[in-house]
Amino acid sequence: MTSPQVLATELTRARERTLSLVDFDDAELHRQYDPLMSPLVWDLAHIGQQEEFWLLRDGDPHIPGLLAPEIDSLYDAFVHSRASRVDLPLLPPADARSYCRTVRDRVLDVLARAEGAEALFRFGLVISHEHQHDETMLQALNLRGGPALLSPGAVLPDGRGGVAGTSVLVPAGPFTLGVDAAEEPYSLDNERPGHTVEVDAFRIGRVPVTNAQWRDFIDDGGYRTPHWWSERGWAHREQFGLTAPAFWNADGSRTRFGHRESIPGDEPVQHITYFEAEAFATWSGARLPTEVEWEKACAWDPVAGARRRFPWGDAEPTPALANLGGDALRPAPVGAYPAGASAYGAEQMLGDVWEWTTSALRPWPGFTPMIYDRYSVPFFAESGSSDDYRVLRGGSWAVAAGILRPSFRNWDHPIRRQIFSGVRLAWDA
Ligand code: AVJ
Ligand code: FE
Repeated sequence: MTSPQVLATELTRARERTLSLVDFDDAELHRQYDPLMSPLVWDLAHIGQQEEFWLLRDGDPHIPGLLAPEIDSLYDAFVHSRASRVDLPLLPPADARSYCRTVRDRVLDVLARAEGAEALFRFGLVISHEHQHDETMLQALNLRGGPALLSPGAVLPDGRGGVAGTSVLVPAGPFTLGVDAAEEPYSLDNERPGHTVEVDAFRIGRVPVTNAQWRDFIDDGGYRTPHWWSERGWAHREQFGLTAPAFWNADGSRTRFGHRESIPGDEPVQHITYFEAEAFATWSGARLPTEVEWEKACAWDPVAGARRRFPWGDAEPTPALANLGGDALRPAPVGAYPAGASAYGAEQMLGDVWEWTTSALRPWPGFTPMIYDRYSVPFFAESGSSDDYRVLRGGSWAVAAGILRPSFRNWDHPIRRQIFSGVRLAWDA
């Protein structure tokens, strides 16, 4: 169990990261870069509002908070769509910052006195929430037009030749899907509980699909040939005129956080919809993995007959094992992390790009909602609400190492590609 001191350090780290992503003038923070995203000042105050709600108000809307109720509700993501947030009477940046600071000071006091797994879990939940919004803010900043606000990103290890397009075998057999609180106390509700599932043999890409492979798909008429696409996917391609991943320019360059640069052939492709991933897979004579296959390839150790905490073993992630944390501002070339390989030899399973799977978001058997009971439940397939989601796995370069596990599940609409999404192929074996 992580101590209150470690949680306090993680809270502070998350806040330093958040503040670095809103270190711009007021006009910038109020801008809506794209209808898909909130203005940055909304994310900032929402981070504080959720922290107050879960840690100072016990998740109970009847317990009064620091903000007037009509201001507090501006930060309810279920009430106000992203597209509409720019028109709300949001807290000005200075007020949002001081609100977040006041909440945080009180939270650290509460944390110093916190005891027991359930109490500490809530702090982990809030840390995860803040980092997830930091990734969302990076998506917004990437959509921003005009000259770059952020530098091109941190140095990354070199890739290895000969790994793109290769695959590894995952033999048939049972494995433990998901995790329990006892082993992963900060796992979220949709990752639990651990349970045994049988998986047929399959092959999976050793590394994600690269930009060079994607270029071959384009050059072979991939975006002009309905044969490779699902019916829905082709209709979407036609309606939106997709001819390449988002942020690829007609002259063969790409634009990334305002930097125009050549497209590195050995980098995992990014900014593709599920439908494009699916078409690419069909064109390749492959398919997309299910999320169950993906998790087995990532976490199962067939010799030990047990899960690993991380693909490479039990050691915490380091910059030599995976591209995480957000400083890179891009994926690393394929083959950059041989030491990060899973037991089956799959590399770059954590970090770099979120990987689309064919799976809709569903609860594991025995699912129990956590205190933030609308984190997962409204998005489950057949939940009656908008359930048109596909699960993405593995985290991107923008995910904080401390919140990611092989069991972590993300989801989005199959048409989305402002997210840091890529693809890893799979094959029946
Ligand atoms: C898990 C990334 C789909 O951004 O909608 C943030 C995370 N939930 N605040 C989202 C989340 C509530 C969520 N995803
Ligand atoms: Fe949120």
